[in-house]
Amino acid sequence: MKLFLAPMEGVVDWVMRDTLTQIGGVDQCVTEFLRVTDRLHPESVFLKNCPELRTGSRTRWGTPVFVQLLGGHAEPLALNAERAVKLGALGIDLNFGCPAKSVNRHDGGATLLKSCDRIHTIVDTVRKAVPSHIPVTAKIRLGFDDPTKCIEIAQAVEEANATWLTIHCRTKTDGYKPPAYWEWIPRIKEKTKIKIIANGEIWNVHDFHRCVEVTQCDDYMIGRGVMSNPFIFKQIKQSLKQETVEEMNWERAKPLLPQFFDASTLYINDYFAVSRTKQWLKALSLKNGEAKQVFDQIKILKKPQEFQSELIRFTR
Ligand SMILES: Cc1cc2nc3c(=O)[nH]c(=O)nc-3n(C[C@H](O)[C@H](O)[C@H](O)COP(=O)(O)O)c2cc1C
Repeated sequence: MKLFLAPMEGVVDWVMRDTLTQIGGVDQCVTEFLRVTDRLHPESVFLKNCPELRTGSRTRWGTPVFVQLLGGHAEPLALNAERAVKLGALGIDLNFGCPAKSVNRHDGGATLLKSCDRIHTIVDTVRKAVPSHIPVTAKIRLGFDDPTKCIEIAQAVEEANATWLTIHCRTKTDGYKPPAYWEWIPRIKEKTKIKIIANGEIWNVHDFHRCVEVTQCDDYMIGRGVMSNPFIFKQIKQSLKQETVEEMNWERAKPLLPQFFDASTLYINDYFAVSRTKQWLKALSLKNGEAKQVFDQIKILKKPQEFQSELIRFTR
């Protein structure tokens, strides 16, 4: 069984992938989406989106990272996929789930769920453009506004020979509102043979086991759950091996933050590091009272040096 760290634009950049794969339990990562319009991105854009291309498309801890592309036009997507592979990408993931208005207005992401033909053409064209040993995968929602479309969409992805299909079990109109409708996965599995990765609303080990019970998938993807509990992947692996599940607590989580701040500073700059560290601390606060106390005290600090010294003080 493989556990995937979900791609999350503006959240799971290479620093976050590095931090989380160091903790362990993550078998596979996918980059934030790289938007493709009509042009071929220069090398530098790929390397920014996926610095792991410099290290064999793996994080420092050995976890493979696929490059995710988002767009509505098959040819430019294929050209960009080819370039990503030449730069060392171990796989290409195609995004058909992004609900953002700015993305959908430009004919990308979830808007493509309205047309199985277009999804088929995109997956097929990209599949044919890259060497056959390189996986080409797709990530979808259940539909744009009608979940019954998911079977047809999954069939289109399968017929285009995608290697696997990740399903975020909600429609675009559902947004991120709970619940996730995992029960659609067994219905899709009845009609297709493609390997399916189940995704949506796994926030703890208990949710994971419920999702397994409903979907009976081999593989699972987790996004927001790992931001509030960075040990969730490790905990799931411990639970699968029937080992004692180590609790997530502030003592274990806090040393990650100054390290994350420093790496984010090196990646972009210290203002970026302040904003990403606040974002993460806020997510940790959802499940942890001590994290919330720290967040409440340092969220108002804007100057990087001041923020950093308080962060160090609170996480010592
Ligand atoms: C802030 C944010 C950014 C996201 N960015 C991406 C993205 O770049 N590509 C993608 O395929 N999905 C993206 N997603 C969707 C997640 O990968 C995932 O499908 C969704 O959050 C449901 O899983 P979860 O309930 O475990 O979070 C994003 C979600 C969030 C909350």
